[in-house]
Amino acid sequence: MGHGAQTRLDGILPVWQQGYAELQGFYQEQGTPLGDAITYVLAKPGKQHRAILTLLSCDLLDQGVRRALGVAQAIELIHAYSLIHDDLPAMDNADTRRGQPSLHKAMDETTAILAGDALLTDAFSWLVKTCPSSWGAATLCRMIDIITELTGSHGMVLGQLYDSHNPDIQTLLSAKSWVLVSREELNTILARLPAPLHLPAVINLYKTGALFASCLVMGFLAGGGESLLRCDTIKVLRLVGFKLGLVYQMVDDVRDMSSDYGKPALRDHDLDKNTMPRIISSREVMAFAGQMLNRACQDLLTQDLAGPVARDKLENLVWYINQMLPELRVSET
Ligand code: IPE
Ligand code: IPE
Ligand code: MG
Ligand code: MG
Ligand code: MG
Repeated sequence: MGHGAQTRLDGILPVWQQGYAELQGFYQEQGTPLGDAITYVLAKPGKQHRAILTLLSCDLLDQGVRRALGVAQAIELIHAYSLIHDDLPAMDNADTRRGQPSLHKAMDETTAILAGDALLTDAFSWLVKTCPSSWGAATLCRMIDIITELTGSHGMVLGQLYDSHNPDIQTLLSAKSWVLVSREELNTILARLPAPLHLPAVINLYKTGALFASCLVMGFLAGGGESLLRCDTIKVLRLVGFKLGLVYQMVDDVRDMSSDYGKPALRDHDLDKNTMPRIISSREVMAFAGQMLNRACQDLLTQDLAGPVARDKLENLVWYINQMLPELRVSET
């Protein structure tokens, strides 16, 4: 991160670093083969964008970002599990992750499957144990409802299945349990992309967009509570999260084509994945990604968000989104 990053994240990074150290300590102290396996994974933290986004979304309401720490921890654990399973031989069969052997390579496949299971299960324990008392049971239940809906059998996990099986677009669109963006919003997104990109776009919304949406929605709710559930800001944040995830995956897929980012290059090509840069040029994918991200950021800055959201906090969020995707150089104002 470049100059200026420190000050913009001053109130957030120390909170998150402490939260992440707590996660590491929890598994280190277990002294079991499963604890050791998870410790191996957490020792290489990755970019931690989802946790930071969660805290930035909470910060929109300026009530202190600690209120969302348990949510950020839970989301980071769910992300970690999804990557361990994503690398397994039955899925992407990737030998490296974050510049080191992936867990099933460093240890064994059984350990990797079970470490993923444990992280997913434990995520809920962090959510419950670290939630502020001001939330109350209703808010906690809503949080669990949102994260399970977005990452479970009709969210991220379904996206991973679609990613592996490569179904046709009609099968995806005819799903009866549709929890993504509204059909109308989907049509607007797809209308801006050439038809051959519709299938990878929907897969990306599921497998990556849903988790980003949960970061922004849950972070914001943590900052203000259940009373905000029906406010329009939640709808805007949810849609921005989905679009951000879609774009983030597009850029990840372009990176996969060119070089090694701590994971094997050209994996998508070898596995015959239906990614956008395998259909049109990487340059064109980046152009579509830039346009989509630009629109999403403008939505954040210009829509009439709920009264208590401070403009400078919104600009902070948009600034961070830009830091995540420097290749796209989207306008911040
Ligand atoms: C990897 O995400 C999976 C995708 C959705 C592209 P990241 O690239 O954010 O993973 P880490 O956590 O930084 O390693
Ligand atoms: C992974 O997408 C998405 C999830 C884990 C939900 P990718 O398969 O493209 O991620 P990388 O490239 O292995 O990190
Ligand atoms: Mg994958
Ligand atoms: Mg993969
Ligand atoms: Mg990838």
